[in-house]
Amino acid sequence: MKPGTLPVIVTRSERMRSLLDQLPVLAASEGSILLLGETGVGKELFADHIHRLSPRRDGPFVKISLSAMPHDLLESELFGHERGAFTTAVQAKKGLFELASGGTIFLDDVDDVPPAVQPKLLRALEAQEVMRVGGTVTIPFNTRLVSAAKVDLKQLVERGLFRADLYYRLHVVPVRIPPLRERPEDVSVLLEHFLLRYAPGRELRVNSQAAAALSRYSWPGNVRELRNVAHRLTLFAGKEVRLEDLPPEILEGQPAEVLARACVRCIAEKNLSFNQAIDCLEETLLKEALRDAAGNRSQAARVLGLSLSTFRDKLKKYGLES
Ligand SMILES: Nc1ncnc2c1ncn2[C@@H]1O[C@H](COP(=O)(O)OP(=O)(O)OP(=O)(O)O)[C@@H](O)[C@H]1O
Ligand SMILES: [Mg+2]
Repeated sequence: MKPGTLPVIVTRSERMRSLLDQLPVLAASEGSILLLGETGVGKELFADHIHRLSPRRDGPFVKISLSAMPHDLLESELFGHERGAFTTAVQAKKGLFELASGGTIFLDDVDDVPPAVQPKLLRALEAQEVMRVGGTVTIPFNTRLVSAAKVDLKQLVERGLFRADLYYRLHVVPVRIPPLRERPEDVSVLLEHFLLRYAPGRELRVNSQAAAALSRYSWPGNVRELRNVAHRLTLFAGKEVRLEDLPPEILEGQPAEVLARACVRCIAEKNLSFNQAIDCLEETLLKEALRDAAGNRSQAARVLGLSLSTFRDKLKKYGLES
């Protein structure tokens, strides 16, 4: 990627499209934006876009993750410190709010701001000025705020873990980025995008069974997980990505899906005894796995987590060998 070019946000989802359509307007406004979404959905990518589409694009874009940082360090990071404020403060240091002046500050994992720092953060945001740790004068800054959270901040407010006034200050414009499982239509375009990025010119294809498994998977790590899977595929797959090239977590996710469908089918057949219900389930599972694997027995056995010989025995039991 050339420096200064915007990394693309790839999507085919209507919901994502309408979010993207709003971005230029959001970017042009000065309102604080709170990006909400699970890990890996693209919050940082969105924050980047908002800054680069905004009138502040030539100013600094300063990011800080508020998770896992000790309180005293966090305060001096955000607000700066004066010389001698604490034993290791041999020199005065500007805080990130000052450094981001004229640009945007991105507070990632904002739900992790410790209670002791929350009132200071609120005061800084309200007044657009900070007092450095150990300082006596206030220093004005001019910074646009974008923050991100993985958890529902509203619930934290209700449980008394997050100050309501700070929540409303951050939350002026909330943007909810949906998880990948709620936009399965994005899986194939994102995969294509990342395969091309990691193996340009190789034209790696994904066969239909692998594509079906990928779109059924729930992607708990969202786009980041998909990106990493794509990267691995470019390293290990041949000309075509097949079901057996997929990582175990994706293949293991399959029986649950197959099982759920099989249960629904057998429940529909009323008045089955216990043994009949179990047989119905087993037979349906075998049939569905075979169908999903387009008749390929070793693939179907693998999806069900059975050895090929056990799988064959079971096919025999139900007269499904042909
Ligand atoms: N729609 C998309 N198109 C292209 N790349 C994307 C898209 N969404 C996310 N990515 C990429 O996926 C990766 C993860 O995205 P990002 O870091 O923005 O997620 P995040 O929501 O900030 O995650 P976390 O909460 O774990 O910090 C990045 O490499 C990002 O560029
Ligand atoms: Mg992030």
